[in-house]
Amino acid sequence: MCGIVACVGREDSLEIILDGLKKLEYRGYDSAGVAIFSDDKVKVVKTRGKIANLRKKVAEQPLSGNCGIGHTRWATHGSPSTLNAHPHQYEQVTIVHNGIIENYAKIKANLEEQGNKFVSETDSEILAHLVQANLLQGKTPVQSLQNSLALLEGTWAVALLIEEQPHKIWCALNQSPLVLGKGRNGTYASSDLTAVLPYTREMIFPEDGDICELSSDSIKIIDKDGNQAERAPQIIDWNPVVAEKAGFKHFMLKEIHEQPRSVTDTFRGKIDRENFTVKLPELDLDFSSIGNIYLVACGTSYYAALIGKFLIERLARIPVYTDIGSEFRYRQPLIKQGDLLVSISQSGETADTLAAVKEAQKRGAKAVSISNVLNSQIPRISQFQLYTHAGPEIGVASTKAFTAQITALLLFALKLAQNRGTLQRKFREELIQEILALPSLMHQVVSHASHLNVIARRYGNARDFLYIGRGINYPIALEGALKMKEISYIHAEGYPAGEMKHGPIALIEDGLPTVVIATKNDLYEKIVSNLVEVKSRGGQIIAIASQGDDQIGEIANDLFLLPPTHYLLEPLLTVLPMQLLAYYMAVHKGTDVDQPRNLAKSVTVE
Ligand code: AGP
Repeated sequence: MCGIVACVGREDSLEIILDGLKKLEYRGYDSAGVAIFSDDKVKVVKTRGKIANLRKKVAEQPLSGNCGIGHTRWATHGSPSTLNAHPHQYEQVTIVHNGIIENYAKIKANLEEQGNKFVSETDSEILAHLVQANLLQGKTPVQSLQNSLALLEGTWAVALLIEEQPHKIWCALNQSPLVLGKGRNGTYASSDLTAVLPYTREMIFPEDGDICELSSDSIKIIDKDGNQAERAPQIIDWNPVVAEKAGFKHFMLKEIHEQPRSVTDTFRGKIDRENFTVKLPELDLDFSSIGNIYLVACGTSYYAALIGKFLIERLARIPVYTDIGSEFRYRQPLIKQGDLLVSISQSGETADTLAAVKEAQKRGAKAVSISNVLNSQIPRISQFQLYTHAGPEIGVASTKAFTAQITALLLFALKLAQNRGTLQRKFREELIQEILALPSLMHQVVSHASHLNVIARRYGNARDFLYIGRGINYPIALEGALKMKEISYIHAEGYPAGEMKHGPIALIEDGLPTVVIATKNDLYEKIVSNLVEVKSRGGQIIAIASQGDDQIGEIANDLFLLPPTHYLLEPLLTVLPMQLLAYYMAVHKGTDVDQPRNLAKSVTVE
């Protein structure tokens, strides 16, 4: 995701835009740029790096004017670079874009055949050319934008300047956030209201398909049917600090709630809904000739690898090895030519995972990187890249990146299965329908977050937690324990539920809380008997179970019920209460939730 700021009014725009972009850096910070109407020309300054770099560059070439647009980028198409930074300019048109244009390659090829030349690798640049072509045909700015956007598939929030129309800004949106502000000194547009709050609390929230025309003292909105629309302004009374987290108390909580969106963005454009197949053009490898598959990662990403193993073996019937990044290179791995090493890393910079990739490549294997940061080190050295689209994850404790990793692994497993013909079409159809339905189920689950707050209060004095699960939910027990450890500093251990009788059950005593994943699946009866083992020895049970289960409530002390989904997709739901329980325990303990002690967001040392 990226950040957009635009303003037109009676004040100089530059400082308003730069200050606003700084507040939006959490949305992306690999490059930034600004375009200002200055002496009736639209002047653009952009650079790789953060807003501080942009400030330095602007200081060298002063810009002044009362109408402008700005952008801070989280690269999805095209590496982080000055050329790929927004704004993009083509003749009359200067544009900034936040979102993903899924069909940009086809449109770009058509435009190139018509003689258009592009300077960037981005999807966004095509929009400047499309709007310009319409203007040349005598269309109005609104018509030009409407006609151009009608060709696109995907998501967008855009702001644009047209040189012949100084002191006006046009905006449009489709499934990407954009808020408008109307103040005493001008009008504003931004990816979130944080950037606008210092100038006005009167906000307008346009709807998907709206085209908005901003001038210094008015905002006109044309809806998707071409009619003038009234969007009632709302007065926002948030304080700026709270607003930066979109009203959430911590980035971690905000990112937990973003997961329906980040999972959707990760599978967006990758599922053929007619043939119920998966399209991964970025993985241009010969799937039929793959030998062994190794999944290597660290921390939470390693637990995603364990789930990936389950998915690939179940769907594609290929054996999969999993390794912790810091162990792989020291165990003389048998990986060889023809094998595939799939690394999983949110940051793409984790030293141990990077070293594992290099070790595998040294032994002749090819590398696929599943990462959330475009062109970070690990994707850069890997032969193939499968990116998650979770957007910047600011909280040190990984949440939305984890569910995005599972989504990417699911797509990878399905692609492998397709190439090996191991799945009947009917099964594929059912599973893909369930995948498409998942974001709304995730939304349903996180909307009951307050129930986990109630449970967390009950165990505020606990000094230890046990987490147990079976099958595909066993790695979720491990992840739940890690979340509890890393943000609330309470000792927690995850185990396969069947292991309890081999030792851990000795830990059970009065008041020791055990979190049990007991969703209705083939292993339900077994997990219930494990749960009874714990209960009968005085343990407290917090059960993560299925809606409609009227048995588990008789045994568990606390219950959180999940909507049903396909067994293979359960981790994308069962992890949510785990994240929320750890979050609220940490809030009650008063720890630094977003930046826990001793931890870093990216562990770039061994
Ligand atoms: C997760 O909550 C932790 N912050 C940590 O375990 C993290 O998953 C691990 O360091 C791996 O990071 P990566 O995904 O960026 O490689």
